[in-house]
Amino acid sequence: MSIDFQNKTALISGAAGGIGLALSRELGHLGMKIVMADIEQEVLQASANILRAEGIEVLACELDVTNFEQWESVVSAAKDKFGAIHMLINNAGVGGIPSGIDKSDNNIFQWVVDVNLMGVMYGARATTPSMKEHGEGGWIINVASMAGMNGVPYSTAYSATKAAVVSMSESWAVELKSHNIHVSALCPAFVKTRIHESLRTKQDKYKTNMLKENAENLKKGFGQAAALVESGIDASLLAKRVVEALENKQLYIFTHPNYRESMGYRARAIDKAFEDAQNSPLVKHLIDDEIVSL
Ligand SMILES: NC(=O)c1ccc[n+]([C@@H]2O[C@H](COP(=O)([O-])OP(=O)(O)OC[C@H]3O[C@@H](n4cnc5c(N)ncnc54)[C@H](O)[C@@H]3O)[C@@H](O)[C@H]2O)c1
Repeated sequence: MSIDFQNKTALISGAAGGIGLALSRELGHLGMKIVMADIEQEVLQASANILRAEGIEVLACELDVTNFEQWESVVSAAKDKFGAIHMLINNAGVGGIPSGIDKSDNNIFQWVVDVNLMGVMYGARATTPSMKEHGEGGWIINVASMAGMNGVPYSTAYSATKAAVVSMSESWAVELKSHNIHVSALCPAFVKTRIHESLRTKQDKYKTNMLKENAENLKKGFGQAAALVESGIDASLLAKRVVEALENKQLYIFTHPNYRESMGYRARAIDKAFEDAQNSPLVKHLIDDEIVSL
């Protein structure tokens, strides 16, 4: 291993369980100091104590990622305790409620957008000033999903927010390169966690009648989601794969090579759309125009 993680600090959102906990453990055992942040306080404290017992230096902070002021407090507490932040893992995320667009609920869609998209933006906005300031460089790992690489029927809010996370990662990778801050979008397929039980952390303000009105269909939808998640890889394997991929400084971190063929569909469809435009009498003359970029 060529990266020296020793004594560097990682701030990980959604660290109480699942992927966030696995990454906290993996990076902690590589010598990083870990700031574990989560909305689920009791589980967070219990998980933090388990990692401390394994010899990892941990600061556990309450954080609702949809609240920017809380992000600022966590960053400040992390700097007070460990001096500097070198890695941000924007991991907290929720699955929403499976439904077709005509049965969707505005509040539930907003919840997913606030956690999965705004939460990631707030995390990067709160953390990058201090990462730039210390000048040692670092990493931002945004946990997207294979679902961010392609639309997913009956899971629009989730796949749309994950596509946004991929897009934000692409933008920030360019913006932050000169500061030696490497940005990755982690895009796993299924991992054995509690993501299908995300409603447990839904804040009260996102009210919905969906669960009552559509109980039977939702039971089926959640059952299918649970089976898919259960078929997934262990979060500990994913965590090792992330560390491996960081060595190669990849923008996209993939964990499931078996999705290559089905995800290639989009790349092929995009290429075909360009071919169609190139053959269009209306626009084919633009083929040699210079591309204007920022
Ligand atoms: N499990 C999978 O199959 C899978 C696949 C692809 C991507 N992901 C992504 O991985 C990330 C981690 O999810 P997971 O699978 O470990 O699920 P999980 O439900 O086990 O863990 C999610 C964690 O995020 C926390 N959280 C939820 N809302 C929060 C909020 N508002 N503020 C702070 N913390 C909050 C939860 O308390 C929990 O600890 C998510 O972004 C998810 O979308 C998961």
